[in-house]
Amino acid sequence: FLHKLVLGIETSCDDTAAAVVDETGNVLGEAIHSQTEVHLKTGGIVPPVAQQLHRENIQRIVQEAVSASKVSPSELSAIATTIKPGLALSLGVGLSFSLQLVHQLKKPFIPIHHMEAHALTIRLLNKVEFPFLVLLISGGHCLLALVRGVSDFLLLGKSLDIAPGDMLDKVARRLSLIKHPECSTMSGGKAIEHLAKQGNKLHFDIKPPMQRAKNSKNCDFSFSGLQHVIDKIIMQKEKEEGIQKGQILSSAAHIAAAVQHTIACHIAKRTHRAILFCKQRHLLSQSNAVLVVSGGVASNLYIRKALEIVTNATQCTLLCPPPRLCTDNGIMIA
Ligand code: KG4
Ligand code: ZN
Repeated sequence: FLHKLVLGIETSCDDTAAAVVDETGNVLGEAIHSQTEVHLKTGGIVPPVAQQLHRENIQRIVQEAVSASKVSPSELSAIATTIKPGLALSLGVGLSFSLQLVHQLKKPFIPIHHMEAHALTIRLLNKVEFPFLVLLISGGHCLLALVRGVSDFLLLGKSLDIAPGDMLDKVARRLSLIKHPECSTMSGGKAIEHLAKQGNKLHFDIKPPMQRAKNSKNCDFSFSGLQHVIDKIIMQKEKEEGIQKGQILSSAAHIAAAVQHTIACHIAKRTHRAILFCKQRHLLSQSNAVLVVSGGVASNLYIRKALEIVTNATQCTLLCPPPRLCTDNGIMIA
């Protein structure tokens, strides 16, 4: 064989995923099983349920990825698996399955940091030179980091409370969007994006998070304060419209548009600050710096537009992996 072949396995949260990738970045086979539908019904991830679903699916998913690649298991060069961070019960399933396979096939094991994998995925598609800036925004992640090398990261900011996707999921759940005929199969974030198109983002006067001076001097994020503000608005509207908790508000689209707009502004401002900081300190190139945005929330086109305004104003290039590589997957691990 000309190329080394790596099997990647991911089970850190609610996706059971595997892929076989060669050393030049060709994806030879991939498979994924998403648990989203089950977790939508329970209104959030219940770790033992996630663990059980990973157990039920991991063998099949790995087998599918390997057979799709037409590589026989003995030809693999190594097995790479997410070891952290994530839900302990979920991570454990992938890890024990991989270690068994490693033992059985007598292959080297490569432990993978889930966030590093997200941050580096763009290099499968574009020749991005180090250093570059990365913004990871999903249901479980929220961070801004300078990527100086394959395992050399400078953390510039993180969420002080919950991640933006988690916040969008909570608002969507509070709005009962799962009962909305147009959004019943969508994740919370996607449902908010869909509904926001029909709403007026300025219908409510909502202050962006972290406006006080003491908070503005770093690149951290916060979303839970905003979530409480939205909760209050929803409660108020339920009273006004005389509807029960669990029914769809007639102002749901305005609320969706306002939430999306407010988090887009917040994310864009913090990212702007990180770019200016890095340029001032000569940590990033003045003229051709790159911002990579990844994670489930990065598929939101309104948030991407807000980030585009920031990168255009600072002479940066904005790169987003396609959605299937933005969310959790086996390819990024391999
Ligand atoms: O990366 P991901 O699949 O899983 C992790 O959290 O690691 O991201 C899922 C998150 C969910 O919170 C979901 O609501 C959000 O990404 N999401 C979106 C959109 N699509 C998914 N948020 C905003 N707009 C979207 N279009
Ligand atoms: Zn992830």
